[in-house]
Amino acid sequence: MEEGFKELISRYQGSHSLPRQFYTSETLYKMDIEHYWNHSWIWVGHINQISNVGDFFLFDYGYESIIVARDKDKCINAFLNVCRHRGSRVCIEKSGNTRVFACPYHAWTYELNGNLRAAREMGDGFDKAKHYLKRVNLRIFHGLIFICISDDPPNIDEGLLQLEELVAPFEFENLKIVHSANYPVAANWKLALENYMECYHCAPAHLEYSRSHSLKDPSSANIELKNCLLKKSIEVGLSGDELQINGLGSKDVEMDFYFSRYPLFQGYQTGSKSGKKLAPLLGKLKDFDGGTTDIQIGILNNFLSYSDHVIGYRFIPRSLQSTDIEVIWMVRQDAEEGIDYNLEDLIWLWHCTSQDDERIIGLNQKGVNSDHYVPGPLSNMEWGIKAFHAGYLKQLDKKTNINSKNFV
Ligand code: FES
Ligand SMILES: [Fe+2]
Repeated sequence: MEEGFKELISRYQGSHSLPRQFYTSETLYKMDIEHYWNHSWIWVGHINQISNVGDFFLFDYGYESIIVARDKDKCINAFLNVCRHRGSRVCIEKSGNTRVFACPYHAWTYELNGNLRAAREMGDGFDKAKHYLKRVNLRIFHGLIFICISDDPPNIDEGLLQLEELVAPFEFENLKIVHSANYPVAANWKLALENYMECYHCAPAHLEYSRSHSLKDPSSANIELKNCLLKKSIEVGLSGDELQINGLGSKDVEMDFYFSRYPLFQGYQTGSKSGKKLAPLLGKLKDFDGGTTDIQIGILNNFLSYSDHVIGYRFIPRSLQSTDIEVIWMVRQDAEEGIDYNLEDLIWLWHCTSQDDERIIGLNQKGVNSDHYVPGPLSNMEWGIKAFHAGYLKQLDKKTNINSKNFV
């Protein structure tokens, strides 16, 4: 089958899954990276991963690699991991502490802020000041570090401002990462992200999750469950006739920023096996109210904040049908393992849940690879996917004018 992107978009029926080529075409994968990921804000880590001068970590996706480092002035910078001599990767270690970044090819050496410090045999006319590692846009929101490599990044500040008051009580800036795990799936990144954006699959696919969590979209719960949750919703600060507080976001518009607080089932203080707390209360929270919060900061970055721990998710494209689902667990910075929290208990729920997701997303890709896959209609609970598709297609359409390209 051969058709251009415009035709492909025009064939897309709203409220359906995407046509096959979006998950199977190498050309579209390249466009995804170049026109979507490279123009999106991406959550790369937490300030407490690089507390000291010289601390750094790498964040890689698609064809890109970014160095995030704390410089001599204690400022955090992010720059492309591409040498300004002949383009080699400069930094190879995933994380660590260093005085400089020395390119392994011809030993050009860069400062912690990306400035070129030394380059051998370059002659008199060579201007070191012009050959710094290319800076990428960076925002820090309550300790969470976001980057965007576009020269024309989308506006993140307005959304962050709207989230400010809602997120502040959790004091994310005082968190530390205590565990991260990678769940690699043989699937396109969009299938992994779409899976996270709906809880239509939660009841059939996530036994452990479904025991403690009301559905991500509790408005579609049955009457008995609704009444039980309504009673509890008052305890988590809602008016009593609502199951969720949606500080931001809407089912009908592009959903870039989102905040939703909702009650867990009776008997659950947090996302644990026993229902009991897992770690000390976060930030300024006074008590375990039995609620939990979904937060989305830019379409690619998702967080789930319980009263005592926070989980971050990323769905990182590695190739057309290879995606790393990265799950990151965070607790208060002053919490001590073995005393204040037990790692095995802490990670239990989302380890099980991510293993389930790994399986169902892989099966999804296998089915979509069939010549006989036809995009199917989305349910009422899959409104998040609808919103993602709208923004994604708009962005690709804006950045391309390539009717003649083929998507085989
Ligand atoms: S490519 Fe980095 S020093 Fe030559
Ligand atoms: Fe899931």
